[in-house]
Order: sequence, then structure tokens, then C-alpha cells
Amino acid sequence: MQRGIRVRSCGIGVPDKVVTNDDLSARLDTSDEWISERTGIRERRVGGTTSGLAAEAGQRALERAGLKPSDIDVLLLATTTPDALVPGTSSTVQALLGTAGGAFDLNAACSGFVYGLVTAAGLVSVGAGRVLLIGADTLSRITDWDDRKMAVLVGDGAGAVVVEPAEGPGDLLSWNLGTDGTLRHLLTCDHGGYLDMDGKEIFRRAVRVVVESAEKALADAGMTADDVDLLVPHQANLRIIQAACQRLGIPVERTAVVIDRYGNTSSASIPLALDDALQHGRVAPGDRLLLTGFGGGMTWASAVLRWGG
Ligand code: ACO
Repeated sequence: MQRGIRVRSCGIGVPDKVVTNDDLSARLDTSDEWISERTGIRERRVGGTTSGLAAEAGQRALERAGLKPSDIDVLLLATTTPDALVPGTSSTVQALLGTAGGAFDLNAACSGFVYGLVTAAGLVSVGAGRVLLIGADTLSRITDWDDRKMAVLVGDGAGAVVVEPAEGPGDLLSWNLGTDGTLRHLLTCDHGGYLDMDGKEIFRRAVRVVVESAEKALADAGMTADDVDLLVPHQANLRIIQAACQRLGIPVERTAVVIDRYGNTSSASIPLALDDALQHGRVAPGDRLLLTGFGGGMTWASAVLRWGG
């Protein structure tokens, strides 16, 4: 029997501390005008730990699904900013939540959440029960706050969904994953160091890979852009989102955008945007969502998901 997946609840965890563009301008050679015009970011949340934010998001997703931690079979944490090298941060989250079964980390940079969704579907297809999928990152901890190029972009946060088995093909209608490791120099952070990137080149490549990946996923699902109820993209720069929307033929009105409030939260950005859309009544059961992202590596990932409700 084929075992597909159903995704049915979402939850987030973000730090209380809000850092506005004016806060950054007070200590860096930058301005609210430059940051909001070039990136669409107005403020971001900063603070906490990856495990703490992840546990908060996971707890909320469980509560909304009416589940207990013991109902979970695998905890899958997508993160590029683990609390430590050893143990895996998923172990700390497991201890905080008390989930049953296995727990592991997955690092695919900002594409991590969609990689995680596809991995969760694979686990379910070979017999796993419910998977608690969390995307969590604290990029602020690997950012040089005196480097205006990076400091204005990043924020901290976490988002989680419950993935459960469904009879038949389920709600993951298609997916597309990609990596081009020859581009790994475009975004780097050494052990103990800070994030560095070639922003212009990432921008240029990001639009191209996101559009190609999303188009492949749509074709595999037998859909066109008109069939997408909501695009949920990685939130790195509003101009990247707008350029991708234009090339895909999906109006920005059918797109989930939270970058203005959270900045780039890496693995958390797609579930943060999804949760915001759900909270604002923009997603109904049965709606077809196109999730798509890109990140360091370079990695990229897209998935067409029917929302389970
Ligand atoms: N405030 C004011 N001026 C700035 C700032 C700043 N924060 N940062 C750069 N500038 C200056 C530059 O020095 C440059 O000045 P110059 O013309 O005198 O040389 C000018 O602004 C223009 O800089 P550009 O780099 O050309 O600006 P651009 O329009 O390309 O925007 C940005 C830069 C926002 C970084 C954009 O390239 C981008 O978003 N790239 C993609 C970033 C991304 O997606 N990264 C991956 C994710 S990051 C992560 O995952 C951790």
C-alpha cells in the first residue's frame, strides 16, 4: 500500500526582542531607507537559542494538532546554526519536548525546511508514523554585527509542522531538490567565524534556480502557475521574491511575505511565512501551496503541497 503524507498544523517560536532598521542605523553606516528599499526588511527578531526556539515552535504545532509529544515518531530539525557541533540540536529539542522515537538534524542551509519535508515524506513512506518537522535558525549568532552587509539581513526564529501518514498518494504532489557545490564559496561561515557572502551573485543565481526548480515541481504535479493558491517562498530579499513571482507568473498577492517583520531566518523562513498565512485565513484545507527556497551550498528546493488543514 502506498503511504503518502498529510501536513496539518503549524506553529512558530520567535524571540521577543525586535531590532528595527533604525536600531541598526544608530550603530552602523546604513539607513532604514537603504535596508527597506534594497531588501524589504523593516525589523527582525533577535535572541534565544536554536533549540529553544525550535522547541517553542514544535510545542505550538503539537498543541494545534491536538497531539502529545509521545504521538511523534521522528523529530526532524532543519538548521544551519546548531547550538553545538555535538550533540545534535535535535537531541536538545527532543529532551525539551519529550517526543518519542528518533531525532536528527538536517543542514541544507535556507533550503532546509523543504529538504526536511521531502525527507519526512520518505520516512513515512517506509513506515514512520508522525514526523515533527522543525526549521529553526539563529543566524544572529554567526553574524558580525559590525558588518553592515550581513547584519541588516538576518533574524532568528523557528517554525514547525506535523507530518502524518495518509492512505494513498497523500498531499505532497511533487518535489524538486538541487545542489551545485561548485557555488559553495558564495555563502560561507567557518567554525567560530562569521557569515560572509557574495550578495550580488547569490541574488542573480537565486532567482534563476528558484524559478527553474519551482517550474519543474509544478510540471511534475501536472499544474501551472494558475493552479497555485499560495506561493510560500524563502524570505531572503523582497526583490528576489518579486523577481521570482514575475517570472513564474504568480502575482505577489498570492504570495506569503513576512520578510518585513523577520528578515532572513534561513530554515525557519518558509514555516514562518506559512504560519502567518494560516493565521490570516489565507490557506484553506485542500489549497495547493508551492514552497520554494534556496540557500548556501548552493542548495535549492521546491515542493507542491496540498494543505491538509
Ligand atoms: N547599508 C547601506 N549601504 C550598504 C549596505 C547597507 N547595509 N550594504 C551595502 N551597502 C552599499 C554597498 O557598499 C554599495 O556601495 P557602493 O555603491 O558605494 O559600492 C551599495 O550599497 C550597493 O551595494 P550592492 O551590494 O550593490 O547592493 P544590492 O542592491 O546588491 O543589495 C543585498 C545587496 C541586499 C545583499 C543583495 O545583493 C541581496 O539580497 N543578495 C542576496 C542575499 C542572499 O539572499 N543571501 C543568501 C542568504 S543569507 C543567509 O542565508 C545567511
